[in-house]
Amino acid sequence: MARVVVVGSINMDLVTLAPRFAEPGETILGERFLTVHGGKGANQAVAAARLGAEVALVGALGAVAFGDQLHAGLAREGIALDHVARIADCGSGTASITVAGGDNHIIVVPGANAHVTPAQIERAQSTLASADAILVQMEIPLESVEATLRLGHRLGKPVILNPAPAHRLPTECLQLARYLTPNQHELAILLGADADEDFRALMQRAPAPVVLTRGEDGAWYRDGGEPVHQPGFQVAVVDTTGAGDTFNAALAVFLHEGLPVAVRKACAAAALSVTRLGAQGGMPTRAELDAFLASRATR
Ligand code: RIB
Ligand code: NA
Repeated sequence: MARVVVVGSINMDLVTLAPRFAEPGETILGERFLTVHGGKGANQAVAAARLGAEVALVGALGAVAFGDQLHAGLAREGIALDHVARIADCGSGTASITVAGGDNHIIVVPGANAHVTPAQIERAQSTLASADAILVQMEIPLESVEATLRLGHRLGKPVILNPAPAHRLPTECLQLARYLTPNQHELAILLGADADEDFRALMQRAPAPVVLTRGEDGAWYRDGGEPVHQPGFQVAVVDTTGAGDTFNAALAVFLHEGLPVAVRKACAAAALSVTRLGAQGGMPTRAELDAFLASRATR
């Protein structure tokens, strides 16, 4: 069983389903409102746990809004929460999400996630030292993202940096990642490049190996040599929220099977995740993923 440690955010997602996105200054009627558990760190932890990994999460929850509820949800998934801090007088992170036509708009308010510190990550050293793979995203302070990369590197552990939402990081810091997992837009921001520059060229000059997600077109990966394409799995899209998180989790869980296999499984897991509503809603179990791969292999 793979051991995965996730360092990252925990949010409550406030989701509105609408027939379309509202224009600035416009009010429209939505169809449904729901609160679902999210946050890129929590989502990746949940997806990895469902895929059969032993998972620990390093992060922070507010002592007020949504803290208990989110903690209970993560505990139900069997995730070790010893390094999830509770921040006094602070709300948990929230994401206001509009879903329309299978696409989404998201605004994140960090709340307690802003209190994940480098010192907290150092305190989790023995947990990180037990990992087969470490996952980190960018919804926590950048200094804590850097601390995770540095500690993981010092411990000789592969750190997968999912640069979402994208920010620039110093090259010497990006070099510490085993893999960078941006989408096309995030890769350009990460490298300070033009948005319209060819993504394959950007992959070649990134300071660490890149696994690039391309939505329904699947993924491209490069670990030395030329970029390789893994086609996507075609499914009926309900909600793409959390697809990237599912992809990253599967990549970490199956990394020991080699990059091509891990990327293929990550594409399949992400495809399954978009067929249901909510970030964590559609995340497949190991059995669901195996059945899906078997059904697609025969066609
Ligand atoms: O990646 C999806 C996640 O991004 C959502 O769950 C939301 O919380 C935002 O953090
Ligand atoms: Na989903």
